This record gives sequence, C-alpha cells and structure tokens, in this order.
Amino acid sequence: MSISGKAKLAGVVGWPVAQSLSPAMHTYWLAEHGIDGAYVPLPVRPEDFATVLRGLRLAGFRGVSVTVPHKEAAFAFVHRCDDAARAAGAVNQLVFHADGTIEGLNTDMPGLRASLEDTLGGGLNGAAAVLLGAGGASRAAVLALDSLGAGEIRILNRNRERAASLASALAPAAKARLVPLGLTDWPAASRDAALVVHATSAGMKGTPPLDLALDTLPGTAAVCDIVYNPLQTELLMRAKARGLMTIDGLGMLMHQGVAAFHAFYGTEPKVTSELRKALEKALAHGS
Ligand code: ATR
Repeated sequence: MSISGKAKLAGVVGWPVAQSLSPAMHTYWLAEHGIDGAYVPLPVRPEDFATVLRGLRLAGFRGVSVTVPHKEAAFAFVHRCDDAARAAGAVNQLVFHADGTIEGLNTDMPGLRASLEDTLGGGLNGAAAVLLGAGGASRAAVLALDSLGAGEIRILNRNRERAASLASALAPAAKARLVPLGLTDWPAASRDAALVVHATSAGMKGTPPLDLALDTLPGTAAVCDIVYNPLQTELLMRAKARGLMTIDGLGMLMHQGVAAFHAFYGTEPKVTSELRKALEKALAHGS
C-alpha cells in the first residue's frame, strides 16, 4: 500500500532489530485497516538512543516500540507511564504526544497475560508457577503471572542473586509469594507447578537452550516460551513430546502489539489466526 505525505509514522527501536517481527505485524494491521501509515525497523546503538528519540520526535513520529536492550533506558525518558511500566521499571512502547510529552507503556505484561489466558482459559487460582530467568523479560512475566492469580511464583535463575533482587524489587507490587531459586532447584520447584514460563535468552536463534528434563512436571502443567524465534523451541518440543499444553511466543507478541497500534494509529486491531499465519510465514522467510 502506498503512503501519503501525511502518513502516520512509528517504528521499533532495538539493537539489533533485524530479528523483530513487529514491522511485519504492524504493516499487516495497517493494510488490514487501510491506514495511511508506516512502521519501520530502527537499528539504534545504546549510546545513540537519546539522540535518536529526539530526532524521531522532531520528525513527527507518533511513537516507537522499544526492544532489547533499550527497555530500561526508555523508562528514564517518560513523563508519565502506566502501572505495568512503573512496576516493571521498563517500557516497551513510547508514545510521543503533540504537547511534547512522552508516555511510556509496558504492554509486555498485559500481552503475556492475554496470551496465557487464551490457552489456559482462565486464571491460575492460587496455583504455583515457575518462571525461568530473572532478566528484563522476567519482570513483566512476574507481574503477568501475579495478575493471573498465581499463589507462588518460583523464580529460577542461573545467577541466584539476580533472582533474589528481582523478587525483592517486585514483592511490594505482587500479591503472590515470590521465591528466588537457582536453576538447579528445577526438580523440586517443578513438581507441583501448574505453569512454566521460560524468559531467559537461552534457546534464541543460534544459542543453546536450557537443558531441562520435563518429567518432573505434572501432566496437567502448561509450558510457555516467550522466545518466538525459533517458534518451536527445544523446550516447547520437549513439552509437546510429554503431552503438555504449550504456549509459544507469538501470542505474547501479537497481544502486546494491540495497545501499541492503538496508541500510534488510533485503531484497535484484532489478534486473529490469519495474523498468526502471516507472522509464521514471515518467520519462515528468515526474520
Ligand atoms: P532479557 O531482557 O531478554 O531478559 P537479560 O536482562 O540480559 O535479557 O536477561 C537474560 C536472562 O537469561 C537472565 O535471566 C540470564 O541469566 P543470568 O542472570 O544468570 O545471566 C538468562 N540466561 C542467558 N543465557 C543463559 C544460559 N545460557 N543459561 C541460563 N540462563 C541464561
């Protein structure tokens, strides 16, 4: 679709950004709704982040999505933000308002929550969940699991101290009991878990996955991987082989994009099976 001189502009800022599916997703929605707009990938080094943000605002961008490694840095630039961003200390969407202010949103948290709800068909009703990882992505995951009603969230991380600092940082905002553990605690931590969410960067394209034996999980457990490249991670393949319910990273990606698209272009898009198919195709073509 061609665009006019009045096109609404937005994009995704990351380093690297070539792996992002956000341009494919937003471009799909722009075409679906016949919107005069564009959404572009913006590779930006950490040291250039502030300069580029200023430039994009001056060039009339409506806002940008923010991905690794800028999510925490972006939080420092906002004049106001939503509760999820405040609790996570990170934003993944920046909205540039006409009065010069910048609003920060964390749509990762509601995005993961919606994706989990889609598959689980409800909340966790006080059950225990295991979260693998204690980095940036895990912050939103703790908040999503908490808002889904987890009774206990066991945060397992290679570096146990990082799990402890994440747990103490988020404990005031969480209703669930947050238990920091090491990856070696997996056998005991997984035994009665209703849900496992993988949020480490191990297993992304080109890196070896965590080596976890899933035989300790109850047969009713669900396993979610927030990595979407590759879509069928080793962890999800192992879970499927055991007959467990699985939730891949595309669900979170699509759901987190809904609020962003609305903020940038003024229309609320839908998460559909056609969109999923288009993104699977984009992934297969080497995104
Ligand atoms: P992100 O923002 O994607 O979460 P991050 O903040 O760098 O990125 O966090 C990466 C997470 O993946 C951390 O939990 C990290 O564990 P450590 O804190 O122990 O470093 C985890 N991680 C990365 N590679 C890993 C590996 N090979 N084995 C286990 N955990 C790994």
